[in-house]
Amino acid sequence: MTTPHIAAARGDFAGVALMPGDPRRAEYIATRFLADARRVSEVRNMYGYTGLFRGRRVSVMAHGIGIPSCSIYATELIREFGVTTLIRVGSCGALPADVKLGDVILAQGASTDSRVNRLRFLDHDFAAISDYELLACAAGVARERGIAVRVGNVFSSDFFYSPQPQIFDVLESMRILAVEMEIAGLYGVAAEHGARSLGILTVSDHLRRNEHLSTTERESGFEAMIEIALETAFRSEAALGDHGGEGAT
Ligand code: HPA
Repeated sequence: MTTPHIAAARGDFAGVALMPGDPRRAEYIATRFLADARRVSEVRNMYGYTGLFRGRRVSVMAHGIGIPSCSIYATELIREFGVTTLIRVGSCGALPADVKLGDVILAQGASTDSRVNRLRFLDHDFAAISDYELLACAAGVARERGIAVRVGNVFSSDFFYSPQPQIFDVLESMRILAVEMEIAGLYGVAAEHGARSLGILTVSDHLRRNEHLSTTERESGFEAMIEIALETAFRSEAALGDHGGEGAT
C-alpha cells in the first residue's frame, strides 16, 4: 500500500504511533527506545519506524511542521495503515510565567487560528479535544514517575513568526499554556476518522521571557515526554488488546 506520502505495506505500522515533527527525532526515538526498530517509510525523508516497546508493537512517524503537513500524515496513517491511536510528541513556546523551559504539557484541548476545523464543521466552533483515556493515562504515568505536567489548553498557530504578537496577551488571558503548530489539526483529523489522539509537549521556548532550551537541555527534557508517550502507547494498546483489538504482538 502506497499513499502519496507514505510508502509502506499496510501491516508495517502498529495500531499506535508516536508522532514528532522532526524526522530525525523519529529516528532518535525509534533507535533509542524501541527494540528491533525498522524504517518502514522514508518518502520526502519523513521517516516512519516500527519496533517493539516492552514486547508491544509501536510506530514512530514524523509529521513535519504545521497543521497541513501533520494532517496529511495522520490521515494516511489512519485511513490506509490501520493506526487508531496517534500521540504527538513535540515542542512548544510557553506563555504563563509559572511555566518553565523543559516543563511537560498535556494538551487537553487545542485552540487555533487555522480554519481547518471550521471547514470540517460547517463554520461552527469545534472543540478540538484530546482522547480522555489517553489524557488520563498520560497524567497517571507522569504522576507515578514523579514527572510534573501541566494539563490544559494550547494554541496551534499557522504562524511561527506571528505578525500580531499582541495575540499572546489574549491567549494568556484565556489560560492558554503554550503555542505550537499542529495539535488542533491532529485532534480534528482524529475526530473526523474516529481515531484517538493526544498531544504531549515539552516547553522549548518561553515566548514572554525570550528563553530557549539549549540542544543538550532539549534532549534530556524531551526524554521525560517520550517516556510518558511510550508508556501511554503501551498501556493503551494493552487495553485494546485485552478487549480483542489489534496491535498486540
Ligand atoms: N511557536 C510555535 N511553535 C513552537 C514554538 C513557538 O514559539 N516553540 C516550539 N514550537
